[in-house]
Amino acid sequence: CGIVGYIGARNVKDVVVGGLAKLEYRGYDSAGIAAIDGGNIKVVKSVGRLANLETKLETTELGGEAAIGHTRWATHGKPSDENAHPHQDCSGRFAIVHNGIVENYLSLREELMAAGHQFRSETDTEVVAHLIEELYNGDLFQTMIAVGKRIRGAYALVVLAKDHPEQIVAMRKSSPMIIGLGENENFVASDIPAILEYTRDIYIMEDGEMAVLTNSGVECFTFDGEPIHKEVYKVTWDAVSAERGGYPHFMLKEIHEQPKAVRDTLRGRVADDLSRVTLDDIHMDEAYTKKVDRIHIVACGTSWHAGLVGKAVIEQYARIPVDVEIASEYRYRSPIFSENTLVIVISQSGETADTLAALREVKQQGLRVLAITNVVGSSAAREADDVIVTWAGPEIAVASTKAYTTQLAALYLLAIHFAHVRGHLADAEVRELIEALDGLPAIAEQVLDTAPQLENFAARYVEATDAFFIGRGLDYSLSLEGALKLKEISYIHAEAYAAGELKHGTLALITEGVPVIALATQPQLYEKTVSNIVEVKARGAFVLGMTWVGNEDLEKSVDEVIYLPKTLPALAPLVAVIPMQLLSYYAAVARGNDVDKPRNLAKSVTVE
Ligand code: G6P
Repeated sequence: CGIVGYIGARNVKDVVVGGLAKLEYRGYDSAGIAAIDGGNIKVVKSVGRLANLETKLETTELGGEAAIGHTRWATHGKPSDENAHPHQDCSGRFAIVHNGIVENYLSLREELMAAGHQFRSETDTEVVAHLIEELYNGDLFQTMIAVGKRIRGAYALVVLAKDHPEQIVAMRKSSPMIIGLGENENFVASDIPAILEYTRDIYIMEDGEMAVLTNSGVECFTFDGEPIHKEVYKVTWDAVSAERGGYPHFMLKEIHEQPKAVRDTLRGRVADDLSRVTLDDIHMDEAYTKKVDRIHIVACGTSWHAGLVGKAVIEQYARIPVDVEIASEYRYRSPIFSENTLVIVISQSGETADTLAALREVKQQGLRVLAITNVVGSSAAREADDVIVTWAGPEIAVASTKAYTTQLAALYLLAIHFAHVRGHLADAEVRELIEALDGLPAIAEQVLDTAPQLENFAARYVEATDAFFIGRGLDYSLSLEGALKLKEISYIHAEAYAAGELKHGTLALITEGVPVIALATQPQLYEKTVSNIVEVKARGAFVLGMTWVGNEDLEKSVDEVIYLPKTLPALAPLVAVIPMQLLSYYAAVARGNDVDKPRNLAKSVTVE
C-alpha cells in the first residue's frame, strides 16, 4: 500500500493525490484521503483505481493545511469503499492510514466493541482508530505512545486529529516510512517517489521510531517518547528509478524484497512460542483436516512450480497423496476425485483464466477449494472456500520472484499444519520445522550476497544459446523454475532435467562449453547428483553447482560453486531459487532485454 501525508500551505488535495499517483504501483484496489477542513476531518474514499477517487474529488471541496492519503492493496477485508483508508474512530475526531498488519486486531476489536465502539469496516486498521479514541487524553503524541504499546505487528501509521490541526503524527514498525523535509511544509510517505516533486531532503524512519510533523519542523522520537536526532538523507535518484526503490528494475527490487515478503507471509501464522502453525485464515476444522485423503494442486507457470515443491513437502510430512496439475490440462480431462479430495489452486494474481476455470469446475463437482493467492480481492480469493494470502505485496515484473517464495512459505505452513493435526509429526519435530521456517527470511537475506558471483557468470555466458538445469528431488522441481526464469527474460533456451534422467536423452545435447546449473542442496541425494554432474562434465559442460555452505566436496566435480546457507533440506528451495533468479536477471540485463516486460509475455494471463 502507499501512504502520503502533508502539512503546509499548498493545496493538500493536489499534494496527497499527486503523491499517491506516484505510489500506485504499490497497490491500487482502493484509495482515500482525509483532511482537516474548517475544523473538522473530512474523508473521501473510493474503491478501485486512484482515478475513481480523483473523480469523486472533482465535486468535493477539500481544503485545510493537513491531509493524509492512502492507496490500498487489500490485506484484511476485501477492496471496498468501507475498507479503504483513511479509517476513523466513532466520533470522527481522528483519521488514520496504515500499511502493514495489526496482528492482535481481533482481540483489540473485541475489547473495543465491549467498550462500546462500533466498527464500519473489516480491516485490522480500523481497530487502531478506535484505540486512539479510547486512549486519547488530550495529547495526541502521548496517546500514540500508549497506542504503540498496545498494538502488535507491522505498521507504518499516520494520524490526523481534529483537535490538533497543526500536527501529523507518524510511527513506523517493520513497514517502510520516510519523512520529507520542506520549507514551512513537511511530508510523510511510505516511499520516496511520493514526495520527490517537492523535496530531496528526507529522514528515513527506522523501526520503533515516530515523528511529529508541523509545517515548521519535524521532531523524531523513540516509541517511548525519547527525542532522537536523525540525519538528513539527500535523494539523488531520478523519479523513475525512485519508483523502483532505487533499483534499475522492478524484478531486482522484488528479488530483494523476498526476505520481507517471506517474513510477512509467516507473520502471525505460527504460535509465538513456535510450537504450532496457526492458520487462522482457513476454516478447516480438525475433523476435516484429518479426513482429507487426496490433494490436487492446480496452477500455471511459476505457481505450478511452487505446487511441485508443495507436493513433495505435503507428502513427506503429512503423508497425503498429492497430484500437481497444470490448470490448462486439468480442466480438460476427467481427474479422479474422492469425496474428501481437497483442491488447492495457487495463483499470484488470482485471475489466471485457466486456474479459475479449473477452480470453478471442481467447485461445481462439490469439492472444497483452497486458494493460495497474493491478491485479496481476486476472483480466486472470492470463489475459493478458503484462502491463504501470500503477503508479497504487488509484484510488477512479469517474471515472478517474491510470489514464488511466499507461495512456498504458505505451502510449508500448510504441510506442517496438516502433518501436526493428523499426528504425523511430533511436537518436537514441528518446533524444529517452525524454527527453521522462522530463520528463512534471514537466510534469504544472506543469499542475496551471491549477486556479484551470478552477475559475473551471466556476463560470461551472455552469448549462450542453451543452458541446462539439473537436480534430483526438490532440486528437480527447483530446476524447472530456474529454467523457466532464464527462458522468460533472457530468451536463452533452457531445459530442466531430473539429473538421473539425463542419460535417457538430454545428455546428447551436452557439448563443449554448454552451461549446466547443477543443484545439489539435498544431502540424501547428493552422491547420486554428483555422479550425474560427472557425466555432463565428461562431455565438456561448464558446471555451476549449488550446494550448502561447508560442502566443499562439490568443488571437485564442478567449475564453480554457489554456497547456500544451511537450512533443512525440505526448505532449501526457498533459498536456492534466489541465485537462479539473480542469474536470469543478470543474463537478461547483459543481453539488453526489457527485464520487467519480456516479449510475448503478460503478468496475468486472463485469456485461455
Ligand atoms: C504468467 C506470469 C507468470 C505466472 C503465471 C501464473 O505466465 O508471467 O509469472 O507464474 O502467469 O500466474 P498466476 O497469477 O496465476 O500465479
